[in-house]
Amino acid sequence: MADRIGIVTGGGDCPGLNAVIRAVSKAAAKRGWESVGFLGGYEGMLQPAQFLQLKYQDLGNMLTRGGTILGTANRGRFSAKTGHGEGRRLDPALITGVKATMDSMNMRGLVSIGGDGSLSIAQQLFEGGVPLVGVPKTIDNDLQGTTMTFGFDSAVACATDALDRLHSTAESHNRVIVLEVMGRYAGWIAIYAGIAGGADVILIPEVPFSYDSIREAVHRREEAGKHFTLVIVAEGAKEKDGQFVTSGQQQENREARLGGIGAVVAEEVEKRCGKETRVCVLGHLQRGGCPTNFDRVLCSMFGAQAVELIADGRFGEMVAFDGSGVKSVKITEAIGQLKTVPPGGSLSRTARALGICLGD
Ligand code: F6P
Repeated sequence: MADRIGIVTGGGDCPGLNAVIRAVSKAAAKRGWESVGFLGGYEGMLQPAQFLQLKYQDLGNMLTRGGTILGTANRGRFSAKTGHGEGRRLDPALITGVKATMDSMNMRGLVSIGGDGSLSIAQQLFEGGVPLVGVPKTIDNDLQGTTMTFGFDSAVACATDALDRLHSTAESHNRVIVLEVMGRYAGWIAIYAGIAGGADVILIPEVPFSYDSIREAVHRREEAGKHFTLVIVAEGAKEKDGQFVTSGQQQENREARLGGIGAVVAEEVEKRCGKETRVCVLGHLQRGGCPTNFDRVLCSMFGAQAVELIADGRFGEMVAFDGSGVKSVKITEAIGQLKTVPPGGSLSRTARALGICLGD
């Protein structure tokens, strides 16, 4: 059996990718295996393969370093999602190409780190004969099969910090401030950060909103003597019977780029409430920088478990978190249908119990 494993990072980056790479390399080295990291996502696996030897002793500051030292891609030939999340089959020649690289490099297995799109690619590669295991990554936290993906907690910390800062300026000027955060089809970042940061209105893709409901929330606060309001809106939130707000042109083999709902909401709220309103778009700040302590631990557990899965030959599985520890599930259980915020679940109920308006 070959004593070498590969690592590939796909899709958008997020805090903790390097911490997973580190954990995989360390756990592999402990077994006497060499680790190789492919560069630029799955494209780097096509011959001539682009890769780095990952001698973890040579890699400094990996636990805290943002981004991915391997590079990543969420467009191009290796994309399994287009438009608004529609599935797409890979060209079979790409699958054969990846398999040929794995065979020629005498690899025992591949650790594929990614979200719904990249793990959908991984599943197609697995079905094509590539021995791989998955690690769930996405700030959106929208993968099934795991209660949490790594990167999510760090994004929530960033969004909460933004709300804390906006709170004081909104209060000083008696303004409504709308914070737009990421969250394409799932409002996990918005609802977690909204509760943690004391937002008054939380708008998520799972609960279509009406401006009347937001106006009433602002007026209720005015009557209670609170002359400012904090609104947090996920980029994928929609007005009842409304459409996604997108930015830029739709590109081939790519999911639509969302963005702009914050400005739309701010303009409408200003009009309807007669209050001065500002918008802040947090954007890629949520994806950058150092992972939180929680994410560092999660990444370490995920990396170690991924190596164990390879050692046990449990290919086609993804490491997962069940709220207290790590386990594994079939990749097929994680992909395809996104994990969204249940509108009647405990987070939504908590928000409502605290008087937070969810826009419905
Ligand atoms: O899927 C993660 C994510 O951060 C989404 O929340 C967001 O819509 C998208 O990626 C942004 O991607 P890009 O970096 O290509 O703009």
